[in-house]
Parts: sequence; C-alpha cells; structure tokens
Amino acid sequence: MNSFASPTRQTPDAEMLFGFWYRALASERVRHNRLQKAMLLEVPLVIGRDAQGRAFALRDACPHRGMPLSCGVFDGHQLECSYHGWKFDAHSGQCQLIPSLTADQKLRVDRIYAGALACAEHDDYIWVFVPEPGPAGAGATKPEDPPLPAPRVPTFSRAYKLAYLTADMPVTVDHGIIGLMDPAHGPFVHQAWWWRSRHSIHEKQKAFEPIPDGFRMSAHTPSSNSAPYKLLRLYADAESITTTIDFVLPNLRSETIRAGKYWFSSLTTVTPITRNRCRIDVVAAWNIFRWLPFGPGLLKFVFAKFVEQDRRTMELQAEGLKHDPHLMLIDDADRPAKWYFQLKQAYMDARRNGAEMRHPMSGPVTLKWRS
Ligand code: FES
Ligand SMILES: [Fe+2]
Repeated sequence: MNSFASPTRQTPDAEMLFGFWYRALASERVRHNRLQKAMLLEVPLVIGRDAQGRAFALRDACPHRGMPLSCGVFDGHQLECSYHGWKFDAHSGQCQLIPSLTADQKLRVDRIYAGALACAEHDDYIWVFVPEPGPAGAGATKPEDPPLPAPRVPTFSRAYKLAYLTADMPVTVDHGIIGLMDPAHGPFVHQAWWWRSRHSIHEKQKAFEPIPDGFRMSAHTPSSNSAPYKLLRLYADAESITTTIDFVLPNLRSETIRAGKYWFSSLTTVTPITRNRCRIDVVAAWNIFRWLPFGPGLLKFVFAKFVEQDRRTMELQAEGLKHDPHLMLIDDADRPAKWYFQLKQAYMDARRNGAEMRHPMSGPVTLKWRS
C-alpha cells in the first residue's frame, strides 16, 4: 500500500479511457441535415441529426478510402461520401449503395459499415459512446451496444431550469480532472470581492467514502463560500442545506445541493479531445429562482467566471508543463487526485486482466486541508 505521508511523485500518464460515454457536442451546435465535425479521444467524428431530429455519430473516415464523411452530402437519412458516392445509413453506418458496381457484381454491400458509434442526447448535449479500439485492420461493424445508458444531470423535481458552459483546456485530461477536484486552488484562482479572498483561507475537514468506480464527499453543509450555497441561504435554513459531491470514472463530477424542496445540481465532465487537450463542460440544473428573470443569467455569469478562471490557469500551467517537469501530489489536499490516479490504474488493470476492478479505498476517510 502507498504511504501517504511524503509527497509522491506522480506524473499523469495522459492515458485516455475507452469504453465510456463522453459528451461530444452541445445540442444546439448540431442542426438538422447539417454535418458537424467533433473529436473524442483522438477519434475524429462526424455528428448530425436525421430528418426526425435524432442525433447520430460516425467515425469521420469513409471505410472505402478514408475520405472524411463530413465532406459528404446528408439527405436526412443517408450520408453520401464525396469521393465515390458510397451511401451509408446515418445511424447504423451500414453501406446501402456503391455506385460503381454493375448488375452482375455480387459484392455484399450490406456487410460494409462506416464506423457508427452509439449516440444519446439529453441535458443539452449529444453523448457518444467511444468503444475500445478493435483489432487493427478489422474494419467497422454495427455500433456496439453500450453497457450503461449515458450519464444524466441529477434532478429532483419535474420542472427545472438547465444551463451549460463549455471551455477548451490545453492540458491532458488528467490535469483537467485533478484541477477540477483540487480544493487548494480556490482562494488563489477564484478570488472575487463578492466571493472570497486569499484571506478567507481556513481549515476544513471533509468526509469521503468509496462509491462504485469513484468516491464521494459525503453529504455535509456546504462550504460557506460556495456560490449556490450563498444563493440557497436566501431560501432555507443554513442547517437544512446539504451538498454531496461525487467523482466517478472516467470523468464525471456531480454535485447536488438540497435545501428542503429546493435543489441545485451539476454534472461536470472533462473530456479528452486529444492527448494534450481536453474540454470541460458544466451542465447545471435547479429549481430555485425559476420565477426570477435574472436567476439563470446570474448563475451562468457566476459559473462562467469560475470556468474562465480555471481555463486561464490551465493555459498558463500548460506553459510550465511543456518541458515535462517533475510533479508531486501532497496530502491531504491532493488526496482526491491520488484516488483518481489509483482508480484509473485499477480500471486499466481490471480491463487488462479481465478481473473485477479493485477499489483503491477500503472505507470512509476524513481529509483536512486549508482553503
Ligand atoms: S472514399 Fe468514400 S466512397 Fe470512396
Ligand atoms: Fe477551479
């Protein structure tokens, strides 16, 4: 077992985890009958919407000679490659026409597939399931059925509001994720007069517990300088407010704040685009101040400011990381980051050995830090 007492040298390996759902694009960026390019885990994709509005995703390379299918023509049902006019069903990727074939040539067109990926759309995003890469040269088949449905933002009432934010970060997915779960940067990166300054640093103690594929900051009264908490205080007793924060592989951070019948939740993802680039997407849902016209705008403003501060920080950090410096993680502030790397390692080991994943935490743990 690792000793947590001394600083551990732990360089993120930037491994990207296949076999999970990832947010590909915000829904509003994909219009009817138009093709949109995207990239997930260095896999180029073409994403579109059929005549009924249902989203689809295909690898952006024709199985014939690799022409990007995003250069092709889409009629609302089929995608036609711009090079030799092969036609593919947008959802299954199955080939439906090869114009060069003569009547007596018996090639089984229906056995050819463009690489379609399972696709789902909810909470303002199109999600794509990125399967493990197949054996080299195997060619594409029907899209794989994902073992689980795509993740959702937690909601606790029928009516609620939803808003999202997105930002590109020029760092590996690992730096994006540990930056997101890092409690110690708040007073330095997220200063604002209405929020907090570095002088508000004080000692904190939080309980954590293992959950499947991740860990949870157990339900507790939120930090007095959390923005949704400050807003919720207008509606409920300070003591009745609780928050729970979960991290689950590969990249999901969900936060739920509840105060009686009012709630606020968010699902933040850090998505590997390439080995050295990731994207953070925050989708928030809430049923507070639904009747106040400035509510959502205000909330979006607060979040946009935070995300921009994180983005700017990671942009600068990327400069420092260019020449591969030695890095360290310290206790207790970086313990969640250590858990993340251990979870990821455990997942990869289990996948390699075909064994059950061994969770790195054996039970509840209390962490202390100043922030
Ligand atoms: S490359 Fe697409 S049809 Fe030939
Ligand atoms: Fe941050």
